[in-house]
Amino acid sequence: MKFAKKDILDVESLSVEEIQTILDTAETLKEISTRPIKKVPTLRGKTVIHFFYEPSTRTRTSFEVAAKRLSADTVSISASTSSIAKGETLVDTARNLEAMNPDAIVLRHPAAGAPHMLARLIQASVINAGDGMHAHPTQALLDMMTVREKKGRLAGLRIALIGDIAHSRVARSNIVGFIKMGAKVILAGPPTMIPMGIDALGGLVRYHVQEATRDADVVMVLRIQKERQEAFLFPSEREYAQCYGLTEEKLAGAKEDVLIMHPGPINRGIEIAPEVADGPYSVILEQVANGVAVRMALLYLLLGGR
Ligand code: CP
Repeated sequence: MKFAKKDILDVESLSVEEIQTILDTAETLKEISTRPIKKVPTLRGKTVIHFFYEPSTRTRTSFEVAAKRLSADTVSISASTSSIAKGETLVDTARNLEAMNPDAIVLRHPAAGAPHMLARLIQASVINAGDGMHAHPTQALLDMMTVREKKGRLAGLRIALIGDIAHSRVARSNIVGFIKMGAKVILAGPPTMIPMGIDALGGLVRYHVQEATRDADVVMVLRIQKERQEAFLFPSEREYAQCYGLTEEKLAGAKEDVLIMHPGPINRGIEIAPEVADGPYSVILEQVANGVAVRMALLYLLLGGR
C-alpha cells in the first residue's frame, strides 16, 4: 500500500490499512536493532528535529534512536534550552525551524492541538509525540504492535484500560486504535478519573477493576498524572492502590495468557504492584523496544525511505 500521509497527528486520522502498513513496516524494521551494526542508510540526508516542550524519557529517546538507526541527522531542542524560555511563540519558533529546511518535526506539547496547528503551518512532516491530554498516536501504535506480535491479531481481543483515563492521551489514542482494529475496550478507574462522555469513543465503562480484567486478553495500566490534576481526585495513594492498583489478586479473572502493559513512567506500588509490573505476563519493556521500531517505521514511511 502506498503511504501518502504528510503528518501523524492522531489515530483518528489513520485508516485500518494505514495502521496495518505502519505495524507491518515496524515488524520488518525491528530486526535492524538486533544487528551488530544497528544502522541502515535509508534516510541519509534527511533532517529530523525533536522538539519537546514536556519531559520525556521513552518517546524522545526512541525517536532519536529510530532516526539515527535510519541514518537521518537529528537535532533535539527543549523548551527550557531554546528561545521559548525568552517568550518566543510556538508559531514563530516553528517558522524559524522551517527556515532551516528540516524534513520532519517531532513535537511534544502541553496544549492539545499544537501539532495539528504546526502541521498546517509548515511543509515538513509533523509527528505528534503527545499533545496535552489529547493524543499520543505513536504510543498507541507501539502498543498495538506489541499486542499483535504477542497474540497474532487485534480483532476480537478484550483490552482493559485501568486508572487515570481522564488525563491520559495514551488512553484516548488506544481506545480509538484498538476499537478501529476490531478489539473490545473496557475502562475502569475511580469515577473522578473517568470523564463523562468517554464511552462515545466506543469503550465500555466499568468502575471496578475486577469487572474490567475479567476475561481480559490485555490489561493496560495508566499512570496517575499528578502533574495534570487540578484537584484531589482520590483520598490518598494508599487508598488508590487498595481500590485500583493492579495486583495479582485483581488479575485472577483475566485470561491465562494475559498481557500486562503500562506506557510508563510507572508509579510502582500505586497503580501497579511491582510483582505484576515485573512479573511473567508483563510486556512493559517490550513496549519500549517496539517504540523504536514503530518510530523507525513512521519516519521511513513519511520521509520516503527506500
Ligand atoms: N510513554 C511515554 O510517553 O513516556 P515518556 O513520557 O517517557 O516519553
